[in-house]
Amino acid sequence: MRSAYEENRRYFRQAYESGRHGWAAVEPSPYVARNLTHVTRLGGGASGVRLLDLGCGEGRHSLLAAKMGFFVVGVDYELLAVVRAQDQARPPDLKPLLHFLVGDLYALPFRPCSFDALLDYGCLHHQRRADWPYYLAAVENVLKPGGYLLLSVFSTAFESFGPQKRSWHLAHGAYRRFFTAQDLHALFDGHFDFLNLEEEREDKRGFWHALLRRQSHCPRTVKA
Ligand SMILES: C[S@@+](CC[C@H](N)C(=O)[O-])C[C@H]1O[C@@H](n2cnc3c(N)ncnc32)[C@H](O)[C@@H]1O
Repeated sequence: MRSAYEENRRYFRQAYESGRHGWAAVEPSPYVARNLTHVTRLGGGASGVRLLDLGCGEGRHSLLAAKMGFFVVGVDYELLAVVRAQDQARPPDLKPLLHFLVGDLYALPFRPCSFDALLDYGCLHHQRRADWPYYLAAVENVLKPGGYLLLSVFSTAFESFGPQKRSWHLAHGAYRRFFTAQDLHALFDGHFDFLNLEEEREDKRGFWHALLRRQSHCPRTVKA
């Protein structure tokens, strides 16, 4: 029997192989653009700011951030997604700012405090609740104290949250979690401060878009 982790991987592999997945391949989210701009204002620009795009997929947000002047590393465990991210059209002057690699969020190949900012659009909501402490530990390990986390996750406004009002479900084998604002606070409070939290509701979709700042002195214990 395949584990939940393997089922998730199979889902993403098939999604990229088929080319039919439910999120945009090229167009970045305006909410991410806004939060990236917010970070540049807080930090006095994007130049020299190292950003990790966790679960970068085909690289739409990595490319946007590089265009804004961030130094970007995109990482995803799906080879095909990373190959597409590398192959995407980009102006030659962005080459030194944009790097992609295959890697798993639970075994990131970076030194502690390697990044000033971390972007996660749609990766956390595919992680099981039992794995949240490991997710938090991975993020805290690579992000400098005072660094920014730009997070986008499914909200309970999503239609597929459905009449049963279950906080998670499996679709085609993939785990999907629907968050309330309270869920996000329960996960991040004590480790991160929320600078911004807004809910996007469009048609049948609902997302939370959050901008958080890592606290300087985080307790090392994480909540289950
Ligand atoms: C919904 S997609 C979003 C892709 C991209 N962030 C975007 O906005 O277009 C989620 C991505 O997270 C990746 N992912 C999920 N779990 C991962 C893990 N444990 N390590 C690395 N990548 C992961 C998937 O392969 C997939 O590309």
